[in-house]
Amino acid sequence: MNVQKRKVPNKRFWENKKVLITGHTGFKGSWLSLWLLQMGCDVIGIALEPENEKNLFDLLNLKDQIKHYICDIRNKKAFGEIIKKHKPDIIFHLAAQPLVITSYKKPLETWQVNVMGTVNLLDEISYLDKKCSVVFITTDKVYENNEWTYGYREIDKLGGLDPYSSSKAACELAIHSWRESFYSSNQYQKTNFSIASARAGNVIGGGDWSENRIVPDVIRSLEKNNEIHIRNPSSTRPWQHVLEPLSGYILLAERLHSDENDIFCSPFNFGPELEANKSVLELVQECLKHWEGDYTIQNNNEKLHEAGKLNLVIDKAYNTLDWKPRWDFCKTIDITINWYKNFTLKKKSPLESCLNDLSLYID
Ligand SMILES: NC(=O)c1ccc[n+]([C@@H]2O[C@H](COP(=O)([O-])OP(=O)(O)OC[C@H]3O[C@@H](n4cnc5c(N)ncnc54)[C@H](O)[C@@H]3O)[C@@H](O)[C@H]2O)c1
Repeated sequence: MNVQKRKVPNKRFWENKKVLITGHTGFKGSWLSLWLLQMGCDVIGIALEPENEKNLFDLLNLKDQIKHYICDIRNKKAFGEIIKKHKPDIIFHLAAQPLVITSYKKPLETWQVNVMGTVNLLDEISYLDKKCSVVFITTDKVYENNEWTYGYREIDKLGGLDPYSSSKAACELAIHSWRESFYSSNQYQKTNFSIASARAGNVIGGGDWSENRIVPDVIRSLEKNNEIHIRNPSSTRPWQHVLEPLSGYILLAERLHSDENDIFCSPFNFGPELEANKSVLELVQECLKHWEGDYTIQNNNEKLHEAGKLNLVIDKAYNTLDWKPRWDFCKTIDITINWYKNFTLKKKSPLESCLNDLSLYID
């Protein structure tokens, strides 16, 4: 790849845009809200209250800087009323039940939130009488996982064994169906809508305290001086800093909104370079280079299926959006662990740390 070629979001494009984010109280949604506020957007958020007492949304005091709505996306009427009231130019749909393990415990709820939430949005935008572009956030887990050592491309078969992965694959089918049926140029079409989906892998970065995610688990153990318990040491994931896929989502939305080319109305992978496909064990060992601690490997008695190998091919995003990952695996861990260290040692406020990481990323 050409190392020079890499685009960053265009601040002039985003200034004064009305942007709706669903899931703005979550990990990715909080970072995305902050980034869009920094670019001068008028941000509207729809989500549930943050799940954990310690959460980035509250720590960044986002509630006072955006139009903040607590609304369940399964409630189509309430969801639609907010959309009609604010008439956004651009929507990022992140709200979801995003955890594989939870999806085994709550399969029906996972499908209701993920699939019906997506379908509710697909339908509700059709009542807008203005141009609107939507990026639907799905996941790298939408592909039928064959435990290949090579990466998945956007044209590969959808699948997903566990209820989370399959629900997100179902979202992809719904998005494709609505686009082909209603949002391109056939007889039922409303051509002022552009919709795309974004498939990214496991993100890490400061400010995530979710249960059952490896980096928050590592931090919780390190803070208490406890041993880190590793469940699936050899599972390989395409780890990336949260700012990497967010920059992809933002660039994709820019092009969806301002470029007539149909190529942007389609799915996009946003993953790291191949070298960042590391095992959970390697991830923990890299974290411990920045914050001393110990780990033990635990037997995974639950025996719930989770994909072992999962890499994404990112040529499409590179060739059409000029998007490429910025930070390698070591840099990503360095930035992430530093964020938590600064927080725990009270050296920097969460806002200072996030703005610092953001400016390092876009400079
Ligand atoms: N974090 C990752 O590693 C990762 C990887 C791939 C894809 N994703 C996807 O990115 C998106 C954001 O993930 P995240 O890590 O920020 O998750 P998160 O759990 O931190 O946030 C989820 C957000 O969705 C909202 N939400 C959940 N149920 C809702 C409902 N019924 N009505 C309204 N809002 C609801 C929550 O309030 C929260 O704001 C999700 O769609 C997820 O599937 C995340």
